[in-house]
Amino acid sequence: MNLRRPHALGPHHLVEGFDCGKTALNDWLLRHARKAQNSGSAKTFVVTDGDRVTGYFSLTIGQIDILEAAEHIRQEIGYYPVPVVILARLAVSTLYQGRVIGLGLLKDAIRRTMMMAEHAGIRAMSTHPIDEAARFIPALSPRRS
Ligand SMILES: CC(C)(COP(=O)(O)OP(=O)(O)OC[C@H]1O[C@@H](n2cnc3c(N)ncnc32)[C@H](O)[C@@H]1OP(=O)(O)O)[C@@H](O)C(=O)NCCC(=O)NCCS
Repeated sequence: MNLRRPHALGPHHLVEGFDCGKTALNDWLLRHARKAQNSGSAKTFVVTDGDRVTGYFSLTIGQIDILEAAEHIRQEIGYYPVPVVILARLAVSTLYQGRVIGLGLLKDAIRRTMMMAEHAGIRAMSTHPIDEAARFIPALSPRRS
């Protein structure tokens, strides 16, 4: 194994055959991530083994309704929408799951969000974990951010 820490998805990365067990997350990487990367609508960062993608996450920017935010954020911001970085997707290939790659990706997403928050009005990271994966990302859903 020759794992490389999270870095931006590029043209040389091999995504074919990526399978995390969730079709929608596979399809995003295989069909949409590069287009989004080039258009600037979402940025994807990958962990690779050689050039093969073993895990990825995608970030975009958005806002959540103030009523969806945690009480302390409501009090600080008032009545405006809350600007957030959205962790839109996070997945690890089934061949590599259970090796702390997912946790590493999550930490990197948080680190990048904090860097962005130094230069723009970002109040939180938001995500909508699918079904059982909600336990993997316990502290980031909008009501708790
Ligand atoms: C969820 C996912 C990203 C985790 O990646 P991973 O590399 O296997 O996870 P890690 O090895 O970093 O695990 C870190 C911790 O999270 C736990 N964990 C992993 N997957 C989990 C899940 N689906 N639900 C709850 N906890 C989970 C692990 O048990 C581990 O806890 P521990 O340190 O107490 O043992 C990966 O299983 C995956 O891609 N699943 C399919 C796609 C998916 O559900 N994505 C999330 C969408 S929101």
